[in-house]
Amino acid sequence: MRQKTYVVTGANNGIGLETSRALAAQGAKVLLVTRTKEKGEGAKADILSTHPEANVESFVADMSLLGDIRNAGEMILERHEVIDGLINNVGTWMSDYVVTKEGIETVFATNHLSYFLMTHLLYPALRNAEDGRVVNVASNAHSYGKINIADPGYSKNYHGLKSNGQSKLANIYFTFEFHNQSPDDHVSAYAVSPGLVKTDIGLKHTSWLHTLAWKFRRRKGQTPAEGARTSVFCATDPEIAAISGKYWEECRTKEVFDSARQPELGKQLWKLSEEMCEIDDYFHQSRR
Ligand SMILES: NC(=O)c1ccc[n+]([C@@H]2O[C@H](COP(=O)([O-])OP(=O)(O)OC[C@H]3O[C@@H](n4cnc5c(N)ncnc54)[C@H](OP(=O)(O)O)[C@@H]3O)[C@@H](O)[C@H]2O)c1
Repeated sequence: MRQKTYVVTGANNGIGLETSRALAAQGAKVLLVTRTKEKGEGAKADILSTHPEANVESFVADMSLLGDIRNAGEMILERHEVIDGLINNVGTWMSDYVVTKEGIETVFATNHLSYFLMTHLLYPALRNAEDGRVVNVASNAHSYGKINIADPGYSKNYHGLKSNGQSKLANIYFTFEFHNQSPDDHVSAYAVSPGLVKTDIGLKHTSWLHTLAWKFRRRKGQTPAEGARTSVFCATDPEIAAISGKYWEECRTKEVFDSARQPELGKQLWKLSEEMCEIDDYFHQSRR
């Protein structure tokens, strides 16, 4: 049987590293996407230390930058004609309003646009798989999210909770809309809640108050390996191949919160994301 190939973004620590390790343990080839070469090599060495037989490659991209994502997507496609699954896992939590050098607010760029653009770029290879899958790591934080179409960066009234809630809600609308619009029935999309997971996400770009709050909150969290289970399940379980466009937690489908029940908003977000990523036709490779 052909060895399956998965791409994992944000693969160098936390849930992404454990997702990559679990996929490699199942005998898959895993393409790690990390911010720097060193982080990629570190993650590779970590996985090989527990699974010496693992087949792991690494690709570099700052996932807040559309140009970097395009370069990484092209490099992946050059080397891999078939991709069985893309796990859009990369994520950041920022206390302050920070704009990337491309002029986009960093959390919206990293947590939503990177999922949207990387899926578009790798779609030709996902379509070549018998059962291609897109797993979008979302969160129950979507419950307090609001999609701000007019100002997705919340430039006038930024708060870390607002930007995180919006981005995780965007992951769910993207999953639903991808399912509605995808012309290929054999490419399925899954939005995943990993639950509360003890990672460093709330310690990296956070004020002292938010750092303290996360240190306190994460004490009740699961391990990153436990947090990776639903992502791995949605990427690989043969029984759920046809169950596209749903929200999952603990390897089961789950109802979304009311914030995610406005399909019209999902369409508006899709249009805005196409504009921002300069995509003319999402399911075909073309660029303005
Ligand atoms: N932890 C939780 O309780 C929880 C709950 C719900 C949802 N989630 C979601 O789970 C996903 C993984 O988060 P986590 O908790 O595992 O956090 P994490 O340990 O901080 O992992 C996030 C990963 O994304 C990478 N990343 C962030 N910004 C990047 C950029 N601009 N370019 C390249 N890589 C970048 C990080 O790399 P660096 O090390 O270089 O920063 C890291 O590898 C996120 O989407 C998060 O929203 C987490």
